[in-house]
Amino acid sequence: MDFTAWCSVHRDAVDQCLQSRFADAWPEPFQEATLYPLRTGGKRIRPLFAIAACEAVGGKVNDDVTHVAAAVELIHTYSLVHDDMPCMDDDDERRGKPSTHIAYGEPAALLVGDSLLTEAFRTLSHTSLDPGVQIRLVAELAEGAGHVGMIGGQAADIGLGGPVTDVETLMRLHNGKTGALIRTSIRMGGLAGGASPTQLDALTRYGAAIGLAFQMADDVLDAEEDAGDDGPPSYVKLMGIDETQSQTRILLEEALNAVSELPEKSNLVSLARFTVERDH
Ligand code: IPE
Ligand code: IPE
Ligand code: MG
Repeated sequence: MDFTAWCSVHRDAVDQCLQSRFADAWPEPFQEATLYPLRTGGKRIRPLFAIAACEAVGGKVNDDVTHVAAAVELIHTYSLVHDDMPCMDDDDERRGKPSTHIAYGEPAALLVGDSLLTEAFRTLSHTSLDPGVQIRLVAELAEGAGHVGMIGGQAADIGLGGPVTDVETLMRLHNGKTGALIRTSIRMGGLAGGASPTQLDALTRYGAAIGLAFQMADDVLDAEEDAGDDGPPSYVKLMGIDETQSQTRILLEEALNAVSELPEKSNLVSLARFTVERDH
């Protein structure tokens, strides 16, 4: 199967799993609101990272891994629903469509985010993986999504640690805000696939490099719209576009080197390239 077909098969499986998680949601209008941000067509890059990592260590790609991948996407989706709300970034649109709070109102959007977040952990508990592995996956996801990971980075991003004026602080911020969940997806896929400690270490190094590269690529894509001085801090603003692009290429090489010894790495390699070369 080529990379495009592989992405499409696994995206469909994850999407089906995501939707099925809310079959018992109630009341009905809330069910509709919860499904809304899951149906607006994201890239599903975190689930694909998880599945590729599982495959890379020789793990079986089955329904259990689809659940693990879906759990990560539930966290990502909740973070976007809350991030767009008026008290955060106040964005009326997400993926070219009305944000959840525009479509359903703020109180419902708040609860939709809460519901997606909570369901992520229930989803992890609905697999037939070894209970020890399940507990480890819960801990990994809580760490990646919580104050040591994504939320800590978001707190820094809204200025709770003061203004960000140097590259080192910006890297720490992004290592949390964007990097943590990407790294976590990759580690969780590896754990679900039975990675050895050495393989998990390789995946962690790949995840750290690609998480940072993802954000640098994003900053280059957003460079025009964030050009003003009052926009958020970015690598392009602090290092310039050429240096950001050259650092992105270095990180890509680092990621590829990290996984060079893994048995079935081809989709991880393609995802890394897609991450830095994407146009959206
Ligand atoms: C966007 O993430 C938000 C960040 C964390 C930078 P993605 O670029 O993965 O968004 P979707 O899910 O594909 O829309
Ligand atoms: C959203 O970050 C990322 C998280 C909620 C973790 P941004 O605010 O930088 O991304 P966009 O521009 O809304 O996609
Ligand atoms: Mg935002």
